[in-house]
Amino acid sequence: MENNKKRVLSGIRASGRIHLGNYFGAVQGMLELQNKGDLETLYMVADLHTLTTPYEKEKLTTQVKEVILDYLACGLDPKKSIVFIQSMIPQHVILAYYFSTITNVARMRHLPTYKDKVKQHPKNVSMALLNYPVLMAADILVYNASYVPVGVDQEPHLEVSREIARKMNSEYGTTFPEPIRYETVGGYVPSLTGIGKMSKSVEGSAIYLTDTEDVIKNKIAKVPTDSGKGSSAPTQGGVATLFTLIELVEGQDKRKYYENEYVSHGVRYGDLKNELSRSIYNYIKPMQEKRKELESNPNYIKEVVEKGSSRAVEIASSVLGEVEEKMGLHYSF
Ligand code: ADP
Ligand code: TRP
Repeated sequence: MENNKKRVLSGIRASGRIHLGNYFGAVQGMLELQNKGDLETLYMVADLHTLTTPYEKEKLTTQVKEVILDYLACGLDPKKSIVFIQSMIPQHVILAYYFSTITNVARMRHLPTYKDKVKQHPKNVSMALLNYPVLMAADILVYNASYVPVGVDQEPHLEVSREIARKMNSEYGTTFPEPIRYETVGGYVPSLTGIGKMSKSVEGSAIYLTDTEDVIKNKIAKVPTDSGKGSSAPTQGGVATLFTLIELVEGQDKRKYYENEYVSHGVRYGDLKNELSRSIYNYIKPMQEKRKELESNPNYIKEVVEKGSSRAVEIASSVLGEVEEKMGLHYSF
């Protein structure tokens, strides 16, 4: 059954469990858009993008399953969203190849995301890594998706997706939308270390949705602080991280309260950290409970992915067919 709802597409690489940065930057946006009801939402595990940096093939199945479990535990609902695995829809890769024919190599080499990965893995600079944003554009545009819930760090990739959409539309007369990032309050969750963003590739920087209360307490206890008092609330470093986390799990008013304390009586970090640890745990506890329930039913995951993939392939093959026709690839001898 066709409909004319606008589409949403997002994905997370299968490179580890989901942390609070992924949750507040991406998953929360996915949930908000899923629950609006007037959009068709497609959420995938970006397993092909996982292969752009070194990975262990024995662990891939488990890692893909972990992301699906996290998605469902957070509230992605297969009755409302199409949940699938990227590699099960070959149309993504085919469209990425067509897109690569109109993409400039120098433009890809200058992307900050590419440069970061080259620094992290200097011995693994592959064509797939260079092509990362092109495949991402294909992931989005193979569904003609207009909205992409992802964190701030993905903005350069979305800019490339828009450029590709524009170029394809002007060269071949396709009608791709120019996809935009769907922003959430937690589009940038800072690291527990106080430097940079929370990330699974930086040791000690993240709280995972599966962390126990004790683990969370220990991690929060290590966040660097200061004397607790000053002329204005810090916007960088460990204290800023604590304030941001407070806002995300306890609300903006709580953040304001502590910011006021900072410039008046002074903040007692022992109390603040205890309260924050408990609030984070209470926030993620229902997700942990849901996850346990899901873990006991592996058939359910299989069914979700099979159903999601068969719907995704319908849309993707129809869009790909139109593109091929416009590019002159439908031959009639
Ligand atoms: P990581 O940096 O931990 O490897 P990914 O690159 O797999 O995370 O990101 C998955 C999704 O989560 C992306 O949409 C990304 O923008 C978002 N994300 C990752 N880290 C953060 C963060 N610290 N704050 C906000 N969003 C984030
Ligand atoms: N690049 C995204 C990340 O690092 C993952 C991703 C791949 C993605 N394809 C996508 C996100 C398409 C949104 C849309 O997390």
